[in-house]
Amino acid sequence: MSERKMITAALPYANGPVHIGHLAGVYIPADVYARFQRRLEKEVAFICGSDEHGIPITIRAKKEGVTPQDIVDKYHEIIKKSFSDLGISFDEYSRTTSKKHYEVSQDFFSTLYNKRKFTEEISEQYFDEQANEFLADRYIVGTCPNCGNDGAYGDQCEKCGSTLSPSELINPKSMLSGNVPVLKETKNWYLPLNEYENFLNEWIILGHKDDWKPNVYGQVKSWLNDGLKPRAMTRDLNWGVPVPLPDADGKVLYVWFDAPIGYISFTQEWAEKNGKNWKDYWQNENSDLVHFIGKDNIVFHCIIFPAMMKAHGDYIMPTNVPAFEFLNLENDKISTSRNWAVWAHEYVEEFPGQQDVLRYALLSSAPETKDNNFTWKDFQTKNNSELVGIFGNFINRVAVLIHKYYNGIVPEGEVNAPELAEITKAAAEIKNFLENFEFRNALSAMMNLARFGNQYLQTEEPWKTIKDHPEKAAHSLFVAAQIAVGLAQISEPFMPFSSEKLLKMFNVSQLNWKEIASEKILIKTGHQINPAELLFSKIEDETIEFQIQKLENTKESNKKTNPKANPMKDEIQFDDFTKIDLRTATILTAEKVEKADKLLKFTVDTGVDVRTVVSGVAESFTPEQCVGKQVMILLNLAPRKIRGIESQGMLLLTNNADGKLVFVTPDETVENGVEIG
Ligand code: 2FM
Ligand code: ZN
Repeated sequence: MSERKMITAALPYANGPVHIGHLAGVYIPADVYARFQRRLEKEVAFICGSDEHGIPITIRAKKEGVTPQDIVDKYHEIIKKSFSDLGISFDEYSRTTSKKHYEVSQDFFSTLYNKRKFTEEISEQYFDEQANEFLADRYIVGTCPNCGNDGAYGDQCEKCGSTLSPSELINPKSMLSGNVPVLKETKNWYLPLNEYENFLNEWIILGHKDDWKPNVYGQVKSWLNDGLKPRAMTRDLNWGVPVPLPDADGKVLYVWFDAPIGYISFTQEWAEKNGKNWKDYWQNENSDLVHFIGKDNIVFHCIIFPAMMKAHGDYIMPTNVPAFEFLNLENDKISTSRNWAVWAHEYVEEFPGQQDVLRYALLSSAPETKDNNFTWKDFQTKNNSELVGIFGNFINRVAVLIHKYYNGIVPEGEVNAPELAEITKAAAEIKNFLENFEFRNALSAMMNLARFGNQYLQTEEPWKTIKDHPEKAAHSLFVAAQIAVGLAQISEPFMPFSSEKLLKMFNVSQLNWKEIASEKILIKTGHQINPAELLFSKIEDETIEFQIQKLENTKESNKKTNPKANPMKDEIQFDDFTKIDLRTATILTAEKVEKADKLLKFTVDTGVDVRTVVSGVAESFTPEQCVGKQVMILLNLAPRKIRGIESQGMLLLTNNADGKLVFVTPDETVENGVEIG
């Protein structure tokens, strides 16, 4: 068994806060595992940080009209604080825009380059000539060739779920400018994954059939069955780690190349601060590398990153990659863009001091083997019936009764009482379950001990025996005190805040896992305990109703937003707006433009003058339908020649639900020439 545990948790994209899906499917289980390994006295490095490159970040920045750096600065802080507030005990939480990360990931790339592990390939990629940028898949929209959805992305149609490549889209359009992109040649560096098939087969398919989760093993197997293809490790983008080669201007490392290297660079940052040798964790067979991830990350952690490490040559392979399925919220898919989520930072504010309740509720419905569901009602039941009704109730009775009958001094009891075996049994079960990444079972084993304690008190009834059989009451409370301290000890990986309170309450220090199993007695006769403190409190219906209402409001407001709407353009200043001269005007005459199916020529009364404007509305209106309409005109647009006619301004138009062009008009008739703004 390795003495070192190198534990990583998927780097969250810094394009939004973290939600319960992230917590249940990666961070809380990873934290339980890391805390538990520390209790086994392993040398643990539990490493994470924000994933600050990639298209999700640049898209969010565009949407909000700010820079990618602004976005990552904002969300890195929010995410980091949420993790710390919820007791996620990372040894290091860094970010992929750190200087060290740039150095380490560029160095990794250079090593592979110098070892001739990449192939150079020229390919044709879509390019936006106006924005002067190559377009990442997500920046191209068009019509899906499979279902006809006209909002399909260059990599995927979200309507029919098919995977696409940008060249398959019908009528591709750039999301940056709305223009039709052109194909342009570009050089990129590829990792020939096909050359790693044998290695991956031997290592995973032959070596980990029995000890890796079936969902992980199955996905890897199916990828390998389909055959691997070379994959570009660089991109033509202006946000990311620059490719460290002389002929690579405007190119950055593929985000899935740099992000997993983040695990390594952050370990180095941590090691430097703490007098450790990072290589002991990453390049030494006496270390277990374990990646906690969501199921959408399997290919990157089981195929691409291992192939990168193999190509490098100095790295160990992960011993396990426990990947989780997804958590739904109130039977609907959690979605950042639809705001369908319970946000970690909001929970912390709205449920102060109740971090362990969320940890408990999410662990008990962790999507270990299949997608699972979180409901607020269920959350309430778990708190009220299990944490308050069983765990808290038992602890409270023990502490209160010891104070009531013995002034807070643990009474005398039989050290060989058979019930004490339940504590070691729970500790052993938890160890077994956690070593197999069975978090829900481990949590149940903890709760079963509390359940056992409760039943024990119920059967023993020390509040009755204290009168006629005081030595029996003393023994019962001696045994109950052992169980309570057992719970204080074994609950720490799951509910660290409550465990700390409990250890203080019983005035004992934390033991390692071996000691829990080997010490017969966890709290001695004569030991003074502190007054009982409330661990959990009932969550009222109003609190739950409030949360449910919040989600209802989200649903309502989602109905009102248009999923097809383009993202906001770059922000402008008020001064920019005042340059635009918009006026009301009336169409006086209208006629078809010869040999142009789409165009109509208008004369319009702008209140300032009468002028000619050409507009592409002939497919939506006959000339007769236009005459007399009051419209809005962009008056100071520089004149343009359209089919030999000088168009002096632009009439404002939009599309109705059927895609037909319609005029934008004032909602009551006003004088011509009135300014709009
Ligand atoms: O899927 C995601 O959210 C990615 N940001 C995970 C990256 S994990 C790692 F490889 F860095
Ligand atoms: Zn489709």
